[in-house]
Amino acid sequence: MKDPSFRRSLALFRAFLREPEDPETVYTLLARDAADQVERHVPLEGKVVVDVGGGPGYFTREFRRRGAQGYLFEPDAGVLGDRSARGPRDAVVADGYLLPLADGAADVTFSSNVLEHVEDPHTFLSEMARITRPGGLIYVSFTNWYSPWGGHEWAPWHYLGAERARARYERRTGRPAKHRLGENLFRIGVGPTLRHVRGRTDVDIVSARSRYWPVLPELVTRVPGVREFATWNLLLILRRCS
Ligand SMILES: C[S@@+](CC[C@H](N)C(=O)[O-])C[C@H]1O[C@@H](n2cnc3c(N)ncnc32)[C@H](O)[C@@H]1O
Repeated sequence: MKDPSFRRSLALFRAFLREPEDPETVYTLLARDAADQVERHVPLEGKVVVDVGGGPGYFTREFRRRGAQGYLFEPDAGVLGDRSARGPRDAVVADGYLLPLADGAADVTFSSNVLEHVEDPHTFLSEMARITRPGGLIYVSFTNWYSPWGGHEWAPWHYLGAERARARYERRTGRPAKHRLGENLFRIGVGPTLRHVRGRTDVDIVSARSRYWPVLPELVTRVPGVREFATWNLLLILRRCS
């Protein structure tokens, strides 16, 4: 599907609404979409692609389907045990802060929707850059805190405060919330992240855009203030410096 386009954004949004009942369809679609985004910059065939925090492995499965040597690194062994996801069986249980890989081991380093779940995103990015070969590509996307989905399962009530939003979710559903601010979900902004990445000497920014936005996805990330709400999910394509 053409990216950006209303058709694609609508298809992704509709799929996203079905996520609880049908994760297989949703994440297969999302993985294809993300792989297309990577292939706009580099063909995947034959490349070493490292997926950091890849969950059960839908993305790695898609990279392999396209001929890449895809490797999945995920710290949560429970997620890897989810065989319904049909993810790779050779995944490595590892933390993105300290990956068991040599410098420059990957042609493409990939991370989808992990950065908002780590307390120290700068160290996480440093590790992604370290394992990427000079000239290699880094794909990193995350949902920022002031995005309408920033509070995850308790969104959009996070605008009224994280604790109140989480308590409301638990009251309404009778289930404990998966995310807790400051434990496994962190306030991360579009502006501060862009400023940080621009100041780094180990990567150049190839593209900074809204991952899902149907029109002018780059423009929305350039307007201070507005971008914190309107970007929804920031996608950075970075090039590892020589
Ligand atoms: C929302 S899920 C995203 C999964 C998948 N990448 C996707 O886009 O569907 C967040 C993932 O980040 C992982 N994660 C959390 N902290 C991490 C860390 N320090 N290093 C690597 N992955 C981490 C979690 O275990 C979880 O699988």
